This record gives sequence, C-alpha cells and structure tokens, in this order.
Amino acid sequence: MSISWLISPTGREVINSAREYLEPLRAVPALRKKYPEIASELISQAMSQAGLQLRLEERWGVPTNQFLLTQDGISQATRPVIAKYRAQEIVKQFGKDAHVLDLTCGLGFDSREFALAGLKVTALEIDPAVAEYAQHNLAEFGIVVSCADATKFQIPADIDVVFVDPARRDPQGSKTALGQAKRIFNPQLWSPSWDSIIDISSRFPVMAKVAPGMDKSEIGNWDAKWLSSAGDLLECFISFPGTGVRSAVLISAESGNCIEVPGESQTRTQNLGRFLVIPDPALIRASALTPLADSINGGLVNEHIAWLTTDDETGVRNMLKQDPVQANALLIESVFKFSDKELITQTKNIPTAGVTIMTRGMQLDVEAIRKSVVKVTAPGNQELIVAIYRDDAGPQALLCRRISSLN
Ligand SMILES: C[S@@+](CC[C@H](N)C(=O)[O-])C[C@H]1O[C@@H](n2cnc3c(N)ncnc32)[C@H](O)[C@@H]1O
Repeated sequence: MSISWLISPTGREVINSAREYLEPLRAVPALRKKYPEIASELISQAMSQAGLQLRLEERWGVPTNQFLLTQDGISQATRPVIAKYRAQEIVKQFGKDAHVLDLTCGLGFDSREFALAGLKVTALEIDPAVAEYAQHNLAEFGIVVSCADATKFQIPADIDVVFVDPARRDPQGSKTALGQAKRIFNPQLWSPSWDSIIDISSRFPVMAKVAPGMDKSEIGNWDAKWLSSAGDLLECFISFPGTGVRSAVLISAESGNCIEVPGESQTRTQNLGRFLVIPDPALIRASALTPLADSINGGLVNEHIAWLTTDDETGVRNMLKQDPVQANALLIESVFKFSDKELITQTKNIPTAGVTIMTRGMQLDVEAIRKSVVKVTAPGNQELIVAIYRDDAGPQALLCRRISSLN
C-alpha cells in the first residue's frame, strides 16, 4: 500500500474522482483514461479507498473523505455517536485534561472523539498498515500512533485511563458471505484477550468495549452499560474499578440525546392488554424494563418474555414521542394459540403490504412462517406484524399493527 501516494494531492484527486463512479466496471476504464500516467495498481488502491469511504458515509451519514480506511477497520470501528458518548463519559469521570491510552486504536475512530472532547490521547495499534492509516486519520490532533503489541507495552505512569477495544474478528480467519472476518465469541480469543485486559485493570483504571452478548458473570464486578442507537444493540461498555452496576444507555442517532436506565430490576407481569410494546434491545439486555413499564402503566407479558403489554394508549403515545425512543409499540388486533395451521387460517383474508414475524422464547423458522402467511401483498395497506411467544399455556400468537406517535 502506498500511503504516501494516497495522501498526496494526486492520490486525493484520484480518490475523489473515483467517488463519482458507483459502478467499478465503469470506473476503472474511465480513471485509466483520465489519468493515463498513473500505474493501474495505484488506480485500484484509490478505487478501493473511494468504495470504503462511500460505504462508511452511507452507514454513518458523516463525511469520510479525509480518512484512509480498510475493510476490517470499518467493520470494527465505533460509530461516531457512540464514540462521542464514551469520550464524554471519560471527561466526566477523569476530567477534561485526562490522558487516555487507546490500546487498540484501529483506524482511530474512538481516539478521534477523545481528542475532539479535549482529552490527551496516546494510541497503539499492532498492525503496521492500520497504524499508518490511523496516524494519517489522527494527524490533525497531533496524536502519535505507535505500532506496538498492547500485551507487551510498558504503560506510562501518567496515563489516567486505559481504553481497550479488543479485536473480536480475526482478519486472517474465515469470512462471512459478505466478505467480513467472522466474529470471535470466546473473550479469551479476542486480541488482547480478556485475561490480558483484567491484568491491566489491576494496575490502571480501564474502560473497554466488549461484545454485547458477553456473559454477565464474566463481566463480574466491572460496571457495565449496554449501548444502543436507533434500536441497534451495539456494544457493552465496561469499566473498572467498578461495583457491578448494570445499566442500559440509549443514544439517539439524530440528536445524540441519551438516556441511561438502571438495570437488573424485577419487572412485574400483566395480563395482555391492547398494546404490545417491544423494548429497545439494550433495555432487554440490561434487564432495565421497569421504568419503561411504569411509564406506560404496563408489565411483562409473562415473567420469561421481555415484551411489555398495556392498555394505556396515552402512556404509549407519550413514550413514542421521546428522543431517543425506548420501544416499538404495536396495537394488538387478535390473539390466538399459535400453530402453523391456525396462523394461516387467521391471516388468510387480511390485506397487508408485507408481514413481519417477531418471536421470543421459541425456536421457529421465521422465514418459513413468513412465506406461509404472505400470499398476496397489497401496497397501500399497513404492514402486518405477527408476534409469537411462549406463554405458560403454550405458544401464543398476536396479530398486530405498528403504531407511531403520529397515527
Ligand atoms: C476493534 S478494533 C479497534 C477499533 C477502534 N476502536 C475504532 O473505533 O476505530 C481493534 C484493533 O486492535 C488491534 N489489535 C489487536 N491486538 C492488538 C494488540 N495486542 N496490541 C495492539 N493492537 C491490537 C487490531 O489490529 C485492530 O485494529
């Protein structure tokens, strides 16, 4: 990779030209014609940068044309809205002049937000090519990126907090159908491993980004916040020293507003009402459903299922007006005991623009069920939602319509 060429005025110009073409098949001959003096290898590199920049812009909705990117780097990068929240948390806990060590900076998206929040940042990255790209991406903040192995690095004594976002995909390992490196679920196989992170926490305060599905018992007495944005559960943000506090943090993708809800609460159950309320996955993961249930005068559909129900329409509509919104709300139109046959009978005359199947507490072939229900879709009608869950008396199906704060 010729980073010096990619960041030269010519390299930047070719990347910007490549961004004009959506079709790589058209771009290559067009760029070769426009820049006959430039080696085809360099044209390919510019094309690949342009493609990655456009992909990230589409995903995040922010300009990315000043960054150098890699496929693995963008699949592991922290969304800016989340990185900004994390930086603010560090400022709150350690002060705005704190010195943060980003042990695994990747392309530098967390470090960037640390610097934008005014924090002093030192960054490490083990992969030489990624470290070089990070150095470019972070140059405007004067951050020096060292290419080093976090597990062997002597942490300077003036570091106030160590941030670690371990690699949870192996770029050398097998790939998914979309060409992404597969996720690693065992924390001891992350890089650095969970044991190495615990070791650092015996000497320095540590904040870490870990998989949202990480076993709660493994997190132990670290404080843990499950973070979501736009209804996507993105990560578990843990810190040590801690006292085992658990919470959910929902961050609005549009405004950046966030709410933190205390977790590990016991939520009451309630008989099925007119509304089914599907909480944000961070609330579910943190067992933080009680304040939401209270705000809609509702309760769990049963003690094993993290869906809420209520009859309080005003409460539901008020909840939907909040930013960030904490749940999806559905109007229940009919209820029956679930079986494939009964579902077909119950849905056969319902006009719909499409069908969404939601399940909880049951292993079902959702695609097969969807195909059995969708015979003819009629645009202009409302989407039909089929919610299926395991109830004490057996599998229960609810036919529902989505409601928003507007309808
Ligand atoms: C999940 S990515 C970090 C992404 C970054 N937080 C961001 O938002 O851009 C993890 C990075 O850690 C690097 N890494 C893995 N093991 C490392 C080690 N032992 N020392 C330093 N870096 C390491 C990987 O090469 C990868 O780039």
